[in-house]
Amino acid sequence: MSTLFTGISELVTNDPSYGGPLGVIPHAALVVEDGRIAWVGDRGRAPAADQARDLGGRAVLPGFVDSHAHLVFAGERSAEFAARMAGERYDGGGIATTVAATRAASDDELRTLLAERVAEMRAQGTTTIEVKSGYGLSVADEVRALRLAGEVTSETTYLGAHVVPPGADRDEYVRLVAGEMLTACAPYARWIDVFCEPGSAHAFDADQSRAILERGRDAGLGLRVHGNQLSYGPGVGLAVELGAASVDHCTYLTDADVDALAQGETVATLLPGVEFSTRHPYPDARRLLDAGATVALATDCNPGTCYTSSMPFVIALAVRELGMTVDEAVWAATAGSARALRREDVGTVRVGLAADLAVLDAPSRAFLAYRPGVPLASTLPH
Ligand code: NIG
Ligand code: FE
Repeated sequence: MSTLFTGISELVTNDPSYGGPLGVIPHAALVVEDGRIAWVGDRGRAPAADQARDLGGRAVLPGFVDSHAHLVFAGERSAEFAARMAGERYDGGGIATTVAATRAASDDELRTLLAERVAEMRAQGTTTIEVKSGYGLSVADEVRALRLAGEVTSETTYLGAHVVPPGADRDEYVRLVAGEMLTACAPYARWIDVFCEPGSAHAFDADQSRAILERGRDAGLGLRVHGNQLSYGPGVGLAVELGAASVDHCTYLTDADVDALAQGETVATLLPGVEFSTRHPYPDARRLLDAGATVALATDCNPGTCYTSSMPFVIALAVRELGMTVDEAVWAATAGSARALRREDVGTVRVGLAADLAVLDAPSRAFLAYRPGVPLASTLPH
C-alpha cells in the first residue's frame, strides 16, 4: 500500500544534497510505501500512489530523536522540584527516592508507565527513543529495567553507574557495576553510561568512571557519559578520550573541553530541560558550534532533573536560551541526536528509510520555537 502526502509547506530532509544542512524542500510531496519512504520531491513532480492525503500546508520533519531518556521508573519527585524552586540545590541525592519506588513496582506497573511515557513522546513527534536503566541499582533490578526498555526500543543503555545506592560501599559497588551486574545486563543493552560527577557525593569520579566504561567496552557496549552537569570536571575529557558516542549535559565546560569536543568524535548532547528544572545556568551551545563541535539535543526525561517528554519544548529552550538558531536546533534534535546514537537510518528523510516523520500543525519549523508550549508536533501516521 502506498500513500502520497501532498500539501507539505516545507519538508526538512537533513539531506544536504537539497541545499544547506537541513535540505529543506519547499512545496513538497512524499510517498510512503509499506512504512518506508519511497519518493520525496517537489509536489509538481509527485508520482501516483494507491491513496493520497493532503496535509493542508503543514511542515514535515524527520521524527525527533530523543537520545537521552530515563523512562523506566515509578513514583515522582514534584516536592523535590518545588524545594529547588525555593532555593535548594540538586546533587543527585533524590535518585535514591526513585530507586526505592522503582524496586517496589511490579513488572507490569513499570511496563505500563514506560508505555505511557513512550506514547507521550510519540504524540509530540518523537520516533526514536533511547532508554536508560539506572533506577534499579541491583543486578536483578537493572536487568529488569533493561529487559523492559528492550520491549520499546533497541537503544537501551545500562546505567548501573547512576549513583552509589544508599548503604552500599562505594568501591564494592563499582566492582559490582563493572563485574557481575555488567555481565548480567550486557545482553540487554546496546550502550553503557556513567554519571561522572566527582563533586557529587552520590556519583562517580574519573577513575571509577573509566574503569566501568572500559569494562563495558570490553563487553561490546558503546559508550555514553553523563558529564559536566553540576560543575567543571573530567567527564567530557574522559568521554572524548575513550571515543564515547556522546557526552551529555556539558553545562560547565572549560576551553580545553570545548577543544576536545571540536576535535574528537564525541557528540555534545545538551539537555536544557535540566537547567530549566534545576535553575543551573544553561549550557552554551553557541560556543560549541562556533568551535566546530557536533551538538545534539534531547529531553533527559526523568523524575528528578527534568520531567518533560517534549522535544519541541527542548528546541524552544535551545533557541531562546542556548544561543542556537532555529535550524541548528532542529538539526540537533534530529540528525544530531541520531549521530549521538551512531545511527544513520534515523533523523533524516531519505528514500528507503523508515517513514519516521514528525508533522507540525504549522507552516514552518520556526513555529517550534516561535509558539512555545503549543502542541503543534505529532508523529505522521501512515
Ligand atoms: O540526567 N544526572 C544524573 N541523572 C539524571 C537525573 C536523575 C534523577 O535525578 O533522578 C540526569 O539529570
Ligand atoms: Fe540523564
